[in-house]
Amino acid sequence: MKIQIINGPNLNLLGKREPSIYGSATFEEHLSLLKSRYPNCEFSYFQSNCEGALIDKLHEVGFDADGIILNAGAYTHTSIAIADAIRAINAPVIEVHLSNVHAREEFRHHSFLSAVAKGVILGFGLNSYNLAVEALLFERL
Ligand code: DQA
Repeated sequence: MKIQIINGPNLNLLGKREPSIYGSATFEEHLSLLKSRYPNCEFSYFQSNCEGALIDKLHEVGFDADGIILNAGAYTHTSIAIADAIRAINAPVIEVHLSNVHAREEFRHHSFLSAVAKGVILGFGLNSYNLAVEALLFERL
């Protein structure tokens, strides 16, 4: 199963960025754990701070990947263009967030992506990504 993970803006700073909210592990460390926990999945990872680059990646992999795990960071709350890209592709997209955005500032409560995502997982730190892998595996059954 080919799984593309896409992380948006500021997620390159995981481990250093507001550790009380996002934890102290880097995404690269977590990716190694994912690879060893799910040896039958083929993971690809992309991170960008640019909205257009995230859209380009969705277009590039969206007709080939079996599933996409997307944490669009703050673009979640602003980007109709990313929502349209998700609508345009075939691969199921699971929206993930490390933090429980509903327990945070009001501007984080709305997502333009949730309505077009297959499902949403949030609030479990880096384990949100594991749960998204489980969801994709479950969908495949
Ligand atoms: C986030 C939540 C967003 O509101 C925020 O802008 C992020 C990270 C999360 O994973 O909790 O950058 O997507």
